[in-house]
Amino acid sequence: MIELNNVSKLFDQTRAVDDICLTVQTGELCVLVGTSGCGKSTTLRMINRLIAHSAGSIRIDGRDIERIDPQQLRRGIGYAIQSTGLFPHWTVARNIAVVPRLLGWSAARIRQRVEELLQLLELAPAEFADKYPSQLSGGQAQRVGVARALAGDPDILLMDEPFGALDPITRESLQNELLRIQSQVRKTIVFVTHDMDEALKLANRIVVMDKGRIVQQDSPQALLANPANAFVENLLGGQERGLKQAGLLRVAALMQTLATAAAAVDGPRIKATDTLRQALSLMLWHRCSSLPVVDEQGQQIGVLQLDALMSRPE
Ligand SMILES: Nc1ncnc2c1ncn2[C@@H]1O[C@H](COP(=O)(O)OP(=O)(O)OP(=O)(O)O)[C@@H](O)[C@H]1O
Ligand SMILES: [Mg+2]
Repeated sequence: MIELNNVSKLFDQTRAVDDICLTVQTGELCVLVGTSGCGKSTTLRMINRLIAHSAGSIRIDGRDIERIDPQQLRRGIGYAIQSTGLFPHWTVARNIAVVPRLLGWSAARIRQRVEELLQLLELAPAEFADKYPSQLSGGQAQRVGVARALAGDPDILLMDEPFGALDPITRESLQNELLRIQSQVRKTIVFVTHDMDEALKLANRIVVMDKGRIVQQDSPQALLANPANAFVENLLGGQERGLKQAGLLRVAALMQTLATAAAAVDGPRIKATDTLRQALSLMLWHRCSSLPVVDEQGQQIGVLQLDALMSRPE
């Protein structure tokens, strides 16, 4: 879907992006991580031609982007940024409708789409549709920015720290929302973040950048298991790695079903769909070494033993 071949970007003498090769498959959620100034935003902006690349080639669906009219290119690519970039003199509804208008949708269809997106991002349409960006909190404005990126139903989404200004709870609910959207409609997404936990949670593939270069690209599991060097290891949180790995695994993978468990246990309950990290935290908090595991309805279906975590296969 998106292919970057030996792409570089020079700003005067600065090599912001240095000879990177990156392929993002259709339906993949690819996350770029790395320290400030390593070239993540520049990479993203070259894909929708907000910045022209200095060398190499970029293709979308096999077409060289230099052969696609930039306006047309951008209509097919949703773009959400941390500072939102909303037009201050336009209402929320009008801001969200930018691309649908360009695409020539009918007024009724646009109205319906705006409402649907506001609801999706938990902004009550009656309250927010007619507000101006200056009347929104940072987090609300950021959600409007995400709604705008989704509005034209583009196949490709470029997201540059779209949840950066949100509190942890709203952030988590938007991350879950993105994963839900992704499991239903399968956009091709390139997502930039500083936050390794966010990257581990969202990504099919994590691309680690340092000083304009790609140092490693792998699935979250593979990255945790085999960081390419000390820089990547550090980014993964050094000694926290074990917890982050546990955060990728579900209780269901290691629990004993009730039929095979030695005995049903009492104590704080954990859901089969929760992560092993959550289970471990619960055990630490309650100073216990086994937890009853329940399904979504709260019915006990198994037991998770601390031993199972300690002896889990690689
Ligand atoms: N328009 C520009 N003119 C000159 N230099 C630029 C320009 N935009 C970016 N740079 C430089 O290119 C490098 C990469 O910048 P970029 O914005 O891509 O980093 P980033 O990884 O997104 O960082 P952050 O996490 O802080 O957003 C930096 O050294 C930056 O100073
Ligand atoms: Mg940036």
